[in-house]
Amino acid sequence: MPDNDDLTDGERFQTQVAARAHVNQLKGAGALDWGMQSRLARIFNPGTNRTVMLAIDHGYFQGPTTGLERVDLSIVPLLGYPDALMTTRGMVRSTIPATSGVPIVLRASGGPSVLKDLSNEQIAVAMEDAVRLNAAAVAVQVFIGGENETQSVHNMTRLVDEGQRAGIPVLGVTAVGRELVRDARYLRLAVRICAELGAHMVKTYYCAEDFDTVTSGCPVPVVMAGGKKLPELDALTMAYNAIEAGASGVDMGRNIFQSDQPVAMIRAVRAVVHDSAKPEQAYEEFVQPAQHGSS
Ligand code: 5RP
Repeated sequence: MPDNDDLTDGERFQTQVAARAHVNQLKGAGALDWGMQSRLARIFNPGTNRTVMLAIDHGYFQGPTTGLERVDLSIVPLLGYPDALMTTRGMVRSTIPATSGVPIVLRASGGPSVLKDLSNEQIAVAMEDAVRLNAAAVAVQVFIGGENETQSVHNMTRLVDEGQRAGIPVLGVTAVGRELVRDARYLRLAVRICAELGAHMVKTYYCAEDFDTVTSGCPVPVVMAGGKKLPELDALTMAYNAIEAGASGVDMGRNIFQSDQPVAMIRAVRAVVHDSAKPEQAYEEFVQPAQHGSS
């Protein structure tokens, strides 16, 4: 029933105050539909517009990777720390507690194992299932320069079309074959192709020279891939340099879950990404004390 007894005669309408417009500061996200922006805000902390994603999807092509033999034991205790978890629907349904609340970036491509040509992937998840799982995004491998380049790009563009319909963002993951050089020239090409063809965010490797040109040439957030396990301080330094060069976060796996101190390591990565802590500072605050058994 209308509230006829409490007419405020315009007082609460504040007619002199212009309507507030909120501008989404996440790179390239301002014109996206609301559901898409909302999901991206679950991945990229709106306070910093950066993310610390924990990647544990390695098993989709290489089986039980070191550190991921028992995801229930090694990863579930870490779920309070990352902004998002990159994983497979099999691991989500079997092992990741829905009550953890961690946003899922769902691996949505696959097919070949490490025994075959990895670029020969196809889409491996229906968008309908990603919706059912309440995924915050889907992830697809793109092999620029690889044997099956066009097929992998087509996997991505199909997921983008389906993601646009469902309001689910797509993470394009630039996979670099062994025969290719991970330099800025190659990464600029791969990242830009993903963004031009509709990826809402792109994951790529760091390169020591001119990584800032990779991020600046990409109109959507670039998230740095971790790669093989490095000494903790080196991994923190790489993350710091990537952020300084314009990356919108990291998606690290082995450098966190293969660390002897994964909780300390992810906390240190968070300090670098979200608080712009210097790598040495984050190392000394989190990793060193943990090594000495006090954390
Ligand atoms: C493959 C991926 C995986 O998520 C990636 O390998 C994970 O992380 P890391 O290399 O940091 O262990 O995207 O390209």
